[in-house]
Amino acid sequence: MEAGKTPDTAAPAPHGPLPPGWAVRTLEEADLDEVLEIEQASFANPWTREMFRQDIRNVGVAYGYVLRAPDGRAAAFCTTWVVVDELHINNLAVHPDYRSRGLGRALLEFVLRLWSELGASHATLEVRRSNEVAINLYRSLGFTVAGTRRNYYTEPVEDALILWRERPDAGPEWAGG
Ligand SMILES: CC(C)(COP(=O)(O)OP(=O)(O)OC[C@H]1O[C@@H](n2cnc3c(N)ncnc32)[C@H](O)[C@@H]1OP(=O)(O)O)[C@@H](O)C(=O)NCCC(=O)NCCS
Repeated sequence: MEAGKTPDTAAPAPHGPLPPGWAVRTLEEADLDEVLEIEQASFANPWTREMFRQDIRNVGVAYGYVLRAPDGRAAAFCTTWVVVDELHINNLAVHPDYRSRGLGRALLEFVLRLWSELGASHATLEVRRSNEVAINLYRSLGFTVAGTRRNYYTEPVEDALILWRERPDAGPEWAGG
């Protein structure tokens, strides 16, 4: 990991495969109206503006990304924490108008590639046990179930699956987490 290095996502995505004209930008406070709209349309227990603000100010740990359509509209976002060599995906959501078009996959692949190149050896996240769409996406990108957190979620109460993904080119020393 290159300590303290902030990835420059102001330029169009260097990694692909984003559709032509789409771009990933670093999440900033100016994005929060649109991000909150996506968040509130996506989760029963959404983060508040203040929670996002605090996250953005957690410089050096928190990295958020917004995927914008060619017309500039925010279609999806992903928030992460990076601690040493671990990428923790805190949140991934696509606006309902844009779902099932490959954009959630494109944004997550972008974030995984970016942080693999910056030295993260593995990625992890929690997901509701019943969230089949998200689990399908994560499995297809190489995440496997590493454990369960009982009653982790509220509204409704539900277990979280802990998913884990090794960087594909990571050596055997990382196998098994
Ligand atoms: C989960 C989410 C981010 C997926 O984004 P998306 O842009 O709709 O998904 P994509 O079109 O990129 O599809 C990626 C994969 O998800 C799964 N998927 C997508 N839509 C699906 C559907 N309607 N039914 C079943 N699986 C589906 C498939 O595995 C798909 O891969 P495939 O196209 O190769 O079959 C999006 O549905 C969302 O925002 N959901 C609400 C918020 C949420 O649950 N976030 C995850 C929190 S852990």
